[in-house]
Amino acid sequence: MRHFSLKTGGGMRHFSLKTGGVDQILIHGKTRAETHTLDKLTPNQGQQIYHPRAQARTMGDTGESGFSVDQVIGNSPRIFQNKSLVSVGTVPDEGRIVGRQEEITNVALSLEDIIYNDVPDNIQIYGKTGTGKSLVSRHVSSKIAERAEENGVHATNVYVDCNANNTITRASRTLYFSVFDELDEKYGIKAQPSISPPPKRGVGWKTYTEELWDIVDDYYDGLVIILDEIDLLEDFNNLLHALSRARENDEIETYISIVLISNKTTQFRNNVNQRVKSSMGGSEFVFSAYNADQLEDILENRRDAFEEGVLGDNTIGRAAELAADEHGDARKAIELLNKAGMMARRNMDETVTEDHVTEARDLVEADLLSKSISTLPDQAKLVLYTLTKRLNGRGDTVSTSQVYDRYQTVAKDVESNVLGYQRVSDLLDELEFLGVTMSERKGRGDRRGIKKDHELNHRPAIVLAATLAEDPRLQDLESVSSPEDILQ
Ligand SMILES: Nc1ncnc2c1ncn2[C@@H]1O[C@H](COP(=O)(O)OP(=O)(O)OP(=O)(O)O)[C@@H](O)[C@H]1O
Ligand SMILES: [Mg+2]
Repeated sequence: MRHFSLKTGGGMRHFSLKTGGVDQILIHGKTRAETHTLDKLTPNQGQQIYHPRAQARTMGDTGESGFSVDQVIGNSPRIFQNKSLVSVGTVPDEGRIVGRQEEITNVALSLEDIIYNDVPDNIQIYGKTGTGKSLVSRHVSSKIAERAEENGVHATNVYVDCNANNTITRASRTLYFSVFDELDEKYGIKAQPSISPPPKRGVGWKTYTEELWDIVDDYYDGLVIILDEIDLLEDFNNLLHALSRARENDEIETYISIVLISNKTTQFRNNVNQRVKSSMGGSEFVFSAYNADQLEDILENRRDAFEEGVLGDNTIGRAAELAADEHGDARKAIELLNKAGMMARRNMDETVTEDHVTEARDLVEADLLSKSISTLPDQAKLVLYTLTKRLNGRGDTVSTSQVYDRYQTVAKDVESNVLGYQRVSDLLDELEFLGVTMSERKGRGDRRGIKKDHELNHRPAIVLAATLAEDPRLQDLESVSSPEDILQ
């Protein structure tokens, strides 16, 4: 297997190529297909991340040497007119937010005092994935800042994704620089000699919070701090303590509201220490999952992502129904519609039907799963792979010992170090916590330690595709050139 990198408009892509002796490849990207000659690509020495959506295919041995990319570009049926509406990264404008009035009201009332230059509440928002937690909190906090400004109160909000900023140094640096950059845009503070931002490296997290208080206190009466996916932040208690005590400790006069978001309610709550609980206080809101009707409304409101007449009669209904099947995840519903459209386009079909949605289901599930396991350590991915290979279908179970025995071979095969039984047992617990597996304790354990039976919450093929997408070493073991091959 040879590994290559390619710089494209969408960023760096990594992929692997099995066949030798070819000089041209066609890459199907997420949004387009491109041909490249191999000598223009940068070869890598192993350890590459396979881009799950890029497929490399040899040109020489398929006899398509007369192929030109011009045959592809601009020649597929027009399916989308505004694809960003069904891209989950896009934050929709107010008119596209459907329902959630009660949740919006609760969050707005907790933050509202900021617009009167008074003390707001801190809040914690819980709920399963894709229930609108990030959307509602970002939307309401921006509105609060806008309304405060209209009242002559200077307020702003800052959003930290703790998945991408998972240490308190990174999180506090992001907090600082988000506020700093916004102030620079508004008032050009970079040019002011009295303000010099701390260096981006080599200083501890407290430097960033101290400097943050300086600029916030000078410029703002109110500040909303959103810490999204807070459970993924290491040592979050220390940061929360510092943020929630700042006013009390006379470090700042600005009124601050801290909004914590998590989809791991119990685990997060259990890990918050008593000191933080008492200084944070505030209200808790739990966002419920959407039902099929609500998901259908959300999708209907984005129908104009597609060209008129392209969507079949029950395409939206089917996507809503499939997404409601598991737990009512709006992200999944949107992704299903997006992938169904992509599938139609790739097949040169002029309409997107409910069959496309059904076909897209496995791809979307594997994609969402690979995003959620991407936060796991590499060894956990090996354990998940081993567990999946040991099972004969969904509903089958396998014991910790059985997983461990096979794991040792897998770890050696991919030239990884081999962890002890207890560590592997802990990683299996992490997988259960993430919701990928379910485990049940079996007996009292033996000399190796606790024994459990484990099963998957998804079909094995889906977990396998997701695991392979996340770990290229496993693709070599399975001899596939694309994780998607597993699903076909
Ligand atoms: N009520 C809604 N109206 C319109 N779009 C919505 C609604 N709820 C969620 N969405 C869309 O669904 C996707 C997922 O929503 P969001 O990111 O807010 O979920 P979340 O609860 O934060 O999930 P996670 O726990 O996985 O972070 C986003 O693209 C969002 O725009
Ligand atoms: Mg979120």
